[in-house]
Amino acid sequence: MRWQLYKETLAIARKRAIATLGAQALASILIFLVYGFIIYQTIQGILRIGDLVLYYQAFQRGQDALKGLLGSISGLYEDNLFLSNLYEFLELKPKIVQPANPQLIPQPMQTGIEFKNVGFQYTTTTRQALKNINLKIKPGEVVALVGENGSGKTTLIKLLCRLYDPTSGSITIDGKDIRSFDIANLRRQISVIFQDYVKYNFTANENIWLGNIELSPTEENITAAARRSGADQVINTLPQGYDTILGKLFEDGEELSIGQWQKVALARAFLRKSQVIVLDEPTSAMDPLAEDEVFQKFRELIKGQAAILISHRLSTVKMADCIYAIANGSIVESGTHSELIKLGGVYANLFETQAQYYR
Ligand SMILES: Nc1ncnc2c1ncn2[C@@H]1O[C@H](COP(=O)(O)OP(=O)(O)OP(=O)(O)O)[C@@H](O)[C@H]1O
Ligand SMILES: [Mg+2]
Repeated sequence: MRWQLYKETLAIARKRAIATLGAQALASILIFLVYGFIIYQTIQGILRIGDLVLYYQAFQRGQDALKGLLGSISGLYEDNLFLSNLYEFLELKPKIVQPANPQLIPQPMQTGIEFKNVGFQYTTTTRQALKNINLKIKPGEVVALVGENGSGKTTLIKLLCRLYDPTSGSITIDGKDIRSFDIANLRRQISVIFQDYVKYNFTANENIWLGNIELSPTEENITAAARRSGADQVINTLPQGYDTILGKLFEDGEELSIGQWQKVALARAFLRKSQVIVLDEPTSAMDPLAEDEVFQKFRELIKGQAAILISHRLSTVKMADCIYAIANGSIVESGTHSELIKLGGVYANLFETQAQYYR
């Protein structure tokens, strides 16, 4: 590919050089012809020496002006290539549209969230990412999703947040389709920490505050959230505490480890006053003690929110009210930890595989 690029670049450069040479040769010939004509007329005595100087200067200026004009036109054309790209992007219409009469999410929810025969396929693929998903999350309940890489766990969360709409089936909140709710209101009621959460190169304080910008970034709010996720300890060891810029983008920024970043991201989720909290592998890089601290008092931390937990470390999902094992986009098992262990299926197998190394 590099060779191909090199060859194409070279071909363009060659074409350009030849065109430039041709154009300049032509221009030079014309200029000499005109100068020759002026000089000839002067020698003939038709023009005087003053005229010669006048014509010479006028010609040169005219030439400069024309050059400037052509340069500007080609600049305009070049900029237009970039701008048309930008306008095309700005004209993209979101596929997720606001309903005609948007409703607000019930506060508090009564029966909770329900997935009914939900199927989903990304438009860019021919595979079904989710098939016939039936799942319930009651208010205050902790639900866990487990399954291999690519089984569809994150996709399910994206559907819940309406980043995509299901291709079949429906998702309801208190019996009403989520497509009938105000999109912003729906998303405000769900705090999600995605697997690929953003590491903002802002101060620690702002990093957490971005979880809920409607809240004023006062110290109590931020530190309370940080304490819940364990980020407080990390931030207190930084040189300027909560005012330290995180990340290496700026000169005085402090880079955190991945586990430390996860604690900051988790604090962001805790800052939000939502009814549902979704954590997509939020503690995968945390040390066992920090992780244990989060999950030991998880119910206390989420303060009555419904929670969806995704984790590959099965020790952390044990305490969930209901665990759904997902394989190839379908739910293959569901139940509490002890029920699934008794069942001896996919979950029990996964759990056993992890547990055997600890014995
Ligand atoms: N944006 C996308 N476009 C097309 N296909 C996608 C996209 N995101 C995910 N997929 C596909 O959908 C399937 C499910 O992906 P998903 O991210 O939901 O898996 P997951 O269960 O979260 O896996 P992991 O444990 O690795 O996080 C995969 O086969 C993946 O290739
Ligand atoms: Mg995922």
